[in-house]
Amino acid sequence: MRAGRMVIRMDARPIAVFDSGLGGLTAVRELHRILPNESIVYFGDTGRIPYGTRSDETVIKYVRQDIRFLMTFDVKLIFIACGTASSIALEAVRSDAGVPLYGVVPATAAAAARASRNKKIGVTGTSATIRTGAYRRALKLIDPDIEVIETACPLFVPLVEAGRVSAGDVVIETVAREYLTPLKDAGVDTLILGCTHYPLISGVISACMGEGVTLIDSGREAAREIAGRLGQADMLSPGKKGETSYYVSDSVEAFTSLGGMFLRAGITGRVAKVDIEKY
Ligand code: DGL
Repeated sequence: MRAGRMVIRMDARPIAVFDSGLGGLTAVRELHRILPNESIVYFGDTGRIPYGTRSDETVIKYVRQDIRFLMTFDVKLIFIACGTASSIALEAVRSDAGVPLYGVVPATAAAAARASRNKKIGVTGTSATIRTGAYRRALKLIDPDIEVIETACPLFVPLVEAGRVSAGDVVIETVAREYLTPLKDAGVDTLILGCTHYPLISGVISACMGEGVTLIDSGREAAREIAGRLGQADMLSPGKKGETSYYVSDSVEAFTSLGGMFLRAGITGRVAKVDIEKY
């Protein structure tokens, strides 16, 4: 760089985000908060949710189609907000993307390792996420001495989608106690919320685990990682407010009415339906 002249390389192309459905809006919410100038193209595979009960083969096939669809937009990166898709498919599909591809696992594992003092870390997620052992591997890579205790919480997603999210709701509290008591008894001091839906019940989870346990939100950690990487690469969007457009593979109306619960704000951008099987 010559003295007195600064080269600023900004990148106004949108960030692509996808998830098996509505849950990835918890990650979009974080992006809106920390990167308000970025435009976002979101795809929610609402016609094929859940991914978390499916085989690796099916999830990889779906993720390939999701990426092919998002690559029809001129995006600067793709963010897999879905815990299941990140755990199963990230490495298998990395070369499909043609732009940098981020999942939630590495940034979340790193944040959990930083937060833990006693090196006992709990991991929650869908059955598929836990089956892959992706978080266990990522944590052990950071520090082999970390003890990892994993629990699949398959009933959390349907209960959250049914709106059973409040403290005092006896159904969600009973299910949470059933899943989380073994983690609490094991003495974990840090708990990974390895699924898009779990931030909506962080109050219930926290009450179950007790005050001393730090919860790590995977969407938030990955959004922070992406913000950092874009900043380092001079690829942030130039200073004007970004716009978000949404695509879904099932009802636009259902997405628009339920989406606000995940986004914690009304859906204001364009929402359109896409035939994902064509990609
Ligand atoms: N988005 C999924 C995840 O974060 C949860 C819903 C599903 O099973 O597809 O793992």
